[in-house]
Amino acid sequence: MSGRLVAISNRVSIPRKSAAPGGLAVGLLAAMRSRGGLWFGWSGDLTEDEPGETDVVKRAGVTYAITDMRRELFEHYYYGFANGMLWPLFHYFLETFRYRDGYYDAYLEANRFLAGRLQALLEPGDLLWMHDYHLIPMARLLREERVAGPMGFFLHTPFPHYEVLRALPVYAELLRDLCAYDVVGFQTANDLNSFRDSIQYVWGEGAVRDEKSVFVDGRRVRVGVFPIGVEIESIRAESESSQASEQVKRMVRSVGGRKLVIGVDRLDYSKGMVERFDAFQRFLEASPDSHGKVTFMQIAPLSRADMRSYESIREQLEGLAGRINGQFADTDWTPLRYLNRNFSHDILMGFMRAAHVCMVTPVRDGMNLVAKEFIAAQDPRDPGVLILSTLAGAARELTNALQVNPYDTRGVAQTIQTALSMPLSERRQRHRSLMEVIRRNDIHAWHGNFVAELEAAGSKQPRAARRK
Ligand code: F6P
Repeated sequence: MSGRLVAISNRVSIPRKSAAPGGLAVGLLAAMRSRGGLWFGWSGDLTEDEPGETDVVKRAGVTYAITDMRRELFEHYYYGFANGMLWPLFHYFLETFRYRDGYYDAYLEANRFLAGRLQALLEPGDLLWMHDYHLIPMARLLREERVAGPMGFFLHTPFPHYEVLRALPVYAELLRDLCAYDVVGFQTANDLNSFRDSIQYVWGEGAVRDEKSVFVDGRRVRVGVFPIGVEIESIRAESESSQASEQVKRMVRSVGGRKLVIGVDRLDYSKGMVERFDAFQRFLEASPDSHGKVTFMQIAPLSRADMRSYESIREQLEGLAGRINGQFADTDWTPLRYLNRNFSHDILMGFMRAAHVCMVTPVRDGMNLVAKEFIAAQDPRDPGVLILSTLAGAARELTNALQVNPYDTRGVAQTIQTALSMPLSERRQRHRSLMEVIRRNDIHAWHGNFVAELEAAGSKQPRAARRK
């Protein structure tokens, strides 16, 4: 069976040059480009009244269908519930988590609105693939409207342990909604285990009697681990060709032969940037020889900037960056460059290829594609070194990176030193083995494996039942 793939996510990335989209959008774009199909979601625009028609555009074999959303509904659903409650909870930030039931109502209403718009676009035989914590209820809502085709869900973030999940008053509703899918996929075995444990707590041992499925309300839901990857060839090509671009050349010139340490993250409290800046400060204190010889460039485009928790992390980072440069800068050297802006994807890959070290040190992350992009962007003859948090999903696969606990300031500072002085033979050997891993689990393996599972689930349904 090979139906049309319909991907649904809150944010849809219609390819454009100006900015590099986040992890979900990068991964899904590569999947959609190689397989074709329909990608549906929010347009990025808000309206004061009921939104107009869904816009449909075709680009390079992919049909994008995007809808505006009503501002108040969007704010309550996206800032209030998805990013004010689920995001902190799924990333173990209980102190940032505040519950308001009105936001949950808005979350359901927004999902109902999106499901309604989607339904009008569906064709018989479609395979529906929903992405991320914004859209958990969507399968149930579509099934209530008697859409019966195969539906899969992939969670890009961590899935928290039951003891954290159950801080959410509506956690059982969310679990039940996840079980309205045919396939539910996670980034790592940890996330899958947490999900299975939660199901067992609520529905008992019988619900998790088989490794690859859970059984709730008489339905079998296939579950699995599908680590998201990157498109290796296109990253290699971008990182090589952008070396000739004026922007990359200017950056390299400005670093002036110093060693370049790079960090690239959405400005988010889960990314561990405060801890990273602290560790860089500790490194500078402990290594006077490095003064004038190392530049750390942190690229951190603003994200969800209207939320208080994001404003506060931004203020902390600005204060720290100012203090570090105030303490160590010289007339001809600024140790830390902190940029709240974005670059196009090819330029970012060019920066990464030019860097000696990349710091990917989130305090919690579903996967983190920057880690994989950095590896793919390197020159294999003279590769840079990846410092990777043990608390990122990517650490499960990238065991040959220099792994650190992001809270261990001294340990991270020492690891920066180790990375900067690593001999070429060791850098090459680590890079070779990391490349093998990211090649095995590349973006095509990710969507290929998930969609195969979804197709298998679909083939078990009687044909007549697939359409309402
Ligand atoms: O990690 C979850 C995720 O969906 C990422 O894949 C993506 O980069 C990020 O969140 C996007 O967040 P937002 O759509 O809120 O900017």
